[in-house]
Amino acid sequence: MDLPKRIVLVGPMGAGKSTIGRLLAKELGYGFLDSDRIIEERCGANIPWIFDVEGEEGFRHRETAMLGELAGKAGVVIATGGGAVMKPENHELLTRDALVIYLKASIEQQVERTRKDRNRPLLQQDDPEAVLRRLFEIRNPIYTELADIVMFTDKKSPRLVVRQLINKIHPRTPRQRRNLKKEGRNHA
Ligand code: S3P
Repeated sequence: MDLPKRIVLVGPMGAGKSTIGRLLAKELGYGFLDSDRIIEERCGANIPWIFDVEGEEGFRHRETAMLGELAGKAGVVIATGGGAVMKPENHELLTRDALVIYLKASIEQQVERTRKDRNRPLLQQDDPEAVLRRLFEIRNPIYTELADIVMFTDKKSPRLVVRQLINKIHPRTPRQRRNLKKEGRNHA
């Protein structure tokens, strides 16, 4: 079985998309690309600055352009921002030639994992939990609809999540996987 051309991770803030994405890419011998980090690099500014100066709309515009660019890549795992699914025009960009994985987490877990974070402008509020709850209600059906695989990450280490994902994506023996890594991939 050939591996997918691209693997796209979607899900809320605090689901572990970046950490898990990096590890998953390493295990599969894929490259790893983090949409938010590339936007920051290109812009020479962090996400709070972009939200401050250009508003959420400005950030979303940059995000759609970035997803368009990433939709042409092969042999990569892509971590997206939690709001990447909000624009219907992004859906084709997220799913094109891709295996889409929804990394799902409970609100409690999202709160816990984002508690000390200052880099997520949407959560710089008195009640970030209420924000996460509201976003979950809106976005959970969209993540679910777009996903080929839904994986819960609550109370699991990133390594365990990656192991479970690999078993779903590509159930080979460890030796076959090691050889695959050495060869540097056989994605379609
Ligand atoms: C956002 C999630 C963030 C980032 C931006 C907006 C959202 O990414 O794109 O702050 O709308 O949920 P992470 O999901 O990686 O935190």
